[in-house]
Amino acid sequence: SHVAVLMGGLSAEREVSLNSGKAVADALEGEGYRVMRIDVDRDIASRLQELRPDVCFNALHGRFGEDGCIQGILETLGLPYTHSGVLSSALAMHKEQAKTVMRAAGVPVANAKLVPRRDAAAAHVFPPPYVVKPPTEGSSVGVVIVPPGTARPPEAILAGGAPDEIVMVERYIAGRELTCAVIGDFVTGVIEIVPRADLPYYDFEAKYAPGGSHHELPAQLLPDVYQLIRKYTVAAHASLGCRGVSRADFRFDDTPGGTGELVCLEVNTQPGMTGTSLVPELAAYAGWSFGELVRWIVEDASC
Ligand code: DAL
Ligand code: MG
Repeated sequence: SHVAVLMGGLSAEREVSLNSGKAVADALEGEGYRVMRIDVDRDIASRLQELRPDVCFNALHGRFGEDGCIQGILETLGLPYTHSGVLSSALAMHKEQAKTVMRAAGVPVANAKLVPRRDAAAAHVFPPPYVVKPPTEGSSVGVVIVPPGTARPPEAILAGGAPDEIVMVERYIAGRELTCAVIGDFVTGVIEIVPRADLPYYDFEAKYAPGGSHHELPAQLLPDVYQLIRKYTVAAHASLGCRGVSRADFRFDDTPGGTGELVCLEVNTQPGMTGTSLVPELAAYAGWSFGELVRWIVEDASC
């Protein structure tokens, strides 16, 4: 069948999506599909109406591609598409709203508040450590960590946008970075991400620069913690009403003297499909080639 791979788009993660899309399109061609590569712009609706693909593989990330907008267009056009639908996409993309839903489903999350950027940047409004995030971005775009003992919050907070723009201030959880994915009815293993020693956390560079981080799969955790992460991943996916593939990111504070807490940071409804991305690695660990993974995702598409 004819598969349109939607990539690029208008978000801050445009380059990441071009890499995800290329990897997916190459693999689908390898699986024998006829592939149209579509760099999504504002004319997407009319182009898709002309092309009438059998399936749209959504390889977009971030604003417009991951937040329910493109999903709404595809629903309206009646074109089957991959990954989550309108409501789940919009919910999961909004990190703060998603916490409310996940918390209600028993998934532990770090408390957060939405405030104007100027408040997040002002000394003494929030006690460090805390994290400032745009509520609806991915790939760590715009994330600033305010470490313990900071007297003045970093300049980067104010420099990140307009003073009255709403940002999310999240309680900082120290410790290890872990991730796990759902593929339909299947829940994968758990990866630990260990950023390169000179990088502060799993930031944009650690995510996409070759050698920016290394991955431990399976993560070296006590078996009950490992299973708990898998259980929370399924609960988070279900609570947000996700479809197909999603990936849940966690922090686990088992630092000496740490709190021992495990929190889900977010669910990604359009997880990266690049050469350094985690879902392809988790799928491979479960015995699926990249080709088998993208084939499964296409077969699972609906609208
Ligand atoms: N937002 C990036 C693409 C991810 O979650 O993998
Ligand atoms: Mg994300």
